[in-house]
Amino acid sequence: MSTPSSIPAAAQTAATEHCGRDLVLTEVTDRRGSTVWKAAGHKGTAALKVGRGDGADISAREAAALVALKADYFVGGGVTHGTAWLLTDWLEGPSTWEVFAPIRAGATDREQALAAAADLCAAVAGLHAAGWVHADLQPSHGIHTATGVELIDLAWAWRPGWDQGDAFNGGMTHLLSPELAAAIVTGDKPVVVTPAADVYALAGVIWACATGRWPLAYEAAGIDPKAATPHDLRRHIATGRIPVTADRPWPALQDVLLPVLLDAPANRPTASELGESLGMRAASPLRHRAVP
Ligand SMILES: Nc1ncnc2c1ncn2[C@@H]1O[C@H](COP(=O)(O)OP(=O)(O)O)[C@@H](O)[C@H]1O
Ligand SMILES: [Mg+2]
Repeated sequence: MSTPSSIPAAAQTAATEHCGRDLVLTEVTDRRGSTVWKAAGHKGTAALKVGRGDGADISAREAAALVALKADYFVGGGVTHGTAWLLTDWLEGPSTWEVFAPIRAGATDREQALAAAADLCAAVAGLHAAGWVHADLQPSHGIHTATGVELIDLAWAWRPGWDQGDAFNGGMTHLLSPELAAAIVTGDKPVVVTPAADVYALAGVIWACATGRWPLAYEAAGIDPKAATPHDLRRHIATGRIPVTADRPWPALQDVLLPVLLDAPANRPTASELGESLGMRAASPLRHRAVP
């Protein structure tokens, strides 16, 4: 078994118990204080996430959120000597970004991508129905499994009264709604993340998956996104004056998403309504899944 020394013994034991003997750990990502490995043994596979330093608090909160949400795919977690870990079932299936790869390459058969977008909306609607927001929806945070979409990276998932931690800065900056960007800029805590802010990010995720670009046309507003710090970008986004990118590779889909990105939060659809609108505007029939 290959066991990177940074993995706490309790996490290695949990991974071996879950996956079985001949455990092999393959690094998937390593960034911002946490590392994810795919663990594979003779019995099965799992994702092991270990947070260190600033990432420890964040990973510990993610494990606590998965417990509070009774997430089916949660296996275990813990904190040892300032290192937090969580073990989850390995979710087999493409991310939303991956499902949309043929679309970005110019495919004209769009039924599968459209169904995936609606499935993602249903998963977010399910989280909202449970009283939570994800607060960091991204093109890679929905995994399209054979039994539906699972949302991952719930480190910033929140409900009123939940400990948000000090480091929350709104999640992926490019998918921040103007009102959430404004709330981050003021610095008041806790930052109230509404389902409407999640729906903005959800529309932005689908927009990005379809176009290959983040939704905001920074350059058109005279902003160089590479030169700007995240704090600067949030200040610009908070004005609500950055236009949306002009390319329209899939107008029927983008016509549904555009008002979500432009309208005031009170006028945005719910996640479930957004999923239904995507289905209704589609040329081809959609396979619908019940909201969990
Ligand atoms: N349970 C899981 N099943 C399958 N892949 C996973 C799972 N958890 C994490 N991953 C993979 O690891 C990547 C990083 O995980 P994530 O929780 O988003 O960490 P980070 O905080 O570094 O963004 C994901 O984009 C996905 O590819
Ligand atoms: Mg992530």
